[in-house]
Amino acid sequence: MDKTFYIETFGCQMNAHDSEKVVGVLLEKGYREVETPQDASYIFYNTCSIRDKAEQKVFHRLDTFKRESGKGKVFGVLGCVAQQEGEKIFARAPHVSLVAGSASYSKLPQMLVRLEAGEKRVTGLKFDEQEAFETPFARRDNPYRAYLTIIEGCDKSCAYCVVPFTRGPERSRTSHSVIAEARQLADSGYTEIQLLGQNVNSYRDPSPAAWDFATLLARVGEIPGLRRVRFTTSHPRDFVKDIIDAIDQTPTLCNHVHLPVQSGSTSVLAAMQRQYTLEEYMLRIDWIKKARRNIAITTDIIVGFPGETERDFADTLNLLDTVEYDSLFNFKYSPRPNTAARSMADPIPEAEIARRHVILQEHQRAIQIRCSSLLVGAVEEVHVEGRNKALNQWIGRTSTNRTLNFTHPETDRDLVGTYLPVQVTRAGPNSLVGAAALDGSESIPRVV
Ligand code: SAH
Ligand code: SF4
Ligand code: F3S
Repeated sequence: MDKTFYIETFGCQMNAHDSEKVVGVLLEKGYREVETPQDASYIFYNTCSIRDKAEQKVFHRLDTFKRESGKGKVFGVLGCVAQQEGEKIFARAPHVSLVAGSASYSKLPQMLVRLEAGEKRVTGLKFDEQEAFETPFARRDNPYRAYLTIIEGCDKSCAYCVVPFTRGPERSRTSHSVIAEARQLADSGYTEIQLLGQNVNSYRDPSPAAWDFATLLARVGEIPGLRRVRFTTSHPRDFVKDIIDAIDQTPTLCNHVHLPVQSGSTSVLAAMQRQYTLEEYMLRIDWIKKARRNIAITTDIIVGFPGETERDFADTLNLLDTVEYDSLFNFKYSPRPNTAARSMADPIPEAEIARRHVILQEHQRAIQIRCSSLLVGAVEEVHVEGRNKALNQWIGRTSTNRTLNFTHPETDRDLVGTYLPVQVTRAGPNSLVGAAALDGSESIPRVV
């Protein structure tokens, strides 16, 4: 069997970066990545189970793989559905021969050797690793913005969420290894880094240096060569003012905080076991709004959690008016296996969940239209990420994490990877349009 593999990934940025690490480890062992499942001997599917829909997609896709990609292949299910369903996957999709969760990826090459030696079914489902999955070989997909995991797993127990079951307990990397990897990324030409963790700000350095998250953030931000440092996702309970102070003092730290609230009602927050009240959440918003820099705030909301009344829902809409989030992810509550909320009283009917979802979506859209329009005329620095040839526009991203599509008179120059000042000329709810502000400072040359 030749050593070609194909990998497809669903889910959050942690999953995306896990796949980058898996690819790196496999390349290092002499495997070769190919573009289609048809060309591959090994087909890996890195899965997400955050909502039921995502999970259903997995089995559907596994069937399609089988139908379309020919016989004699090895199918491996990785990620959160693998961890959650374990050996049950073999029963539901008998063509699968490997099931492995994220805590066992460092053993992936050994698992493949066992399959090559003739074992029919191999699993990696243990959480006994203390260590986070670190590898010097991650093969990053994006040459400009690099993901860097600093903490894995989750020690919280929100009533609706599978992550503590699918990713295991929290494990932080040492500050030394995080700094070393960030330096190496900067040395190899990356100018933007995104620190990752399910709760990135729950980071606790296990080494004697004992840095907290704010210290780590500031130190990463001081690494020569880095222009932008982002971090996601922050849990409100562990969001301390030092993080805002670090942003204020360190120019490379981006003007953006993603702070999922989930609901604007304290009683729903209590039922969700989020470990903060609305008042405590608002204190954090206040710190962010009082920062010297203009920091964009984004969030996640779940509508239709069991027992959510019309009044609770109205509280959430009020919260959106008060905070004026730059953008948000609005999820319909989805009952998940093993979670406390699954057996809670007063489930909200699906149609009602859908109705609230639409109302919230429209409510937020109006806020975004209003807030975005205030940006017309402003000059924002963008990191250029791509080009839309059909529209003759470049695609840039602001420090606040907004997309800003812009025109530039030098059509034959490759601007991707550079930083440029751009004047906003039009503003929609989700993206901005502008023109390069040519009398501004020149971009730095692309180093990658
Ligand atoms: N650790 C982060 C969020 C990780 S999961 C935090 O606590 O903020 C990403 C988002 O998925 C969550 O913020 C939540 O809004 C959503 N989510 C998680 N479980 C869900 C469920 N059962 N139904 C609907 N949305 C869910
Ligand atoms: Fe899930 Fe809550 Fe952990 Fe976030 S903090 S990953 S929502 S259990
Ligand atoms: Fe999905 Fe697992 Fe991420 S459930 S959102 S891939 S942690």
